[in-house]
Amino acid sequence: MKIAVFVSGGGTNLQAIIDNTKNGILQDVEITLVLSSSKDAYALERAANNGIKTAVVSKKDFASLEEWDETMVAEVEKSGAELVVLAGYLSLLGPEFVGKYSNRIINIHPALIPSFCGAGMYGIRPHQAALAKGVKVSGATVHFVNENYDDGPILLQKAVDVLPDDTPETLQKRIMKECEWQILPQAIRLIADGKVIIENNICYVR
Ligand code: GRF
Repeated sequence: MKIAVFVSGGGTNLQAIIDNTKNGILQDVEITLVLSSSKDAYALERAANNGIKTAVVSKKDFASLEEWDETMVAEVEKSGAELVVLAGYLSLLGPEFVGKYSNRIINIHPALIPSFCGAGMYGIRPHQAALAKGVKVSGATVHFVNENYDDGPILLQKAVDVLPDDTPETLQKRIMKECEWQILPQAIRLIADGKVIIENNICYVR
């Protein structure tokens, strides 16, 4: 299966996918495009280091949202990707893109949706909010993407304990390592195997 990975930052989740295409559970998966919303994303270097084609498409460089949306569609069409994976991608996708790739876009979110998600809940903030609320478990969620932030059908979740001496940073690191880098490749595997069904906005693995 060919996939496109969308990024905006450091790209550790992209790295987890790349590593799994080489030595792990995704050896039949090809990353045909890494698309970044920012030219400065370190994720672009990770892609280049692995000989993966990259593109930078920033909303701010377009005269209208429609033009940006069309360009995004064109880039993915060109790549031949059948699945789009948002791995730390910070822009809300446009309506044309979401319509065209309906049920073929997944996102990783660093909290147990529906907690600590939605607009503005990115980076360290979900972890700050989790600690401020005093939750005893947190984790990560892979979900399908619709036109709202962190809102589509949930495919996989994994939890870790919140420890008494956790800081937002220690919690973030543990969730990345023990949850995100595990369930994002697993989600791609399930989709590649045709095991994922969505019915009435609920996702089932069969
Ligand atoms: C991750 O925590 C991911 O869950 C969130 O953004 C962060 C991106 O990290 N959506 P990275 O760029 O994959 O290192």
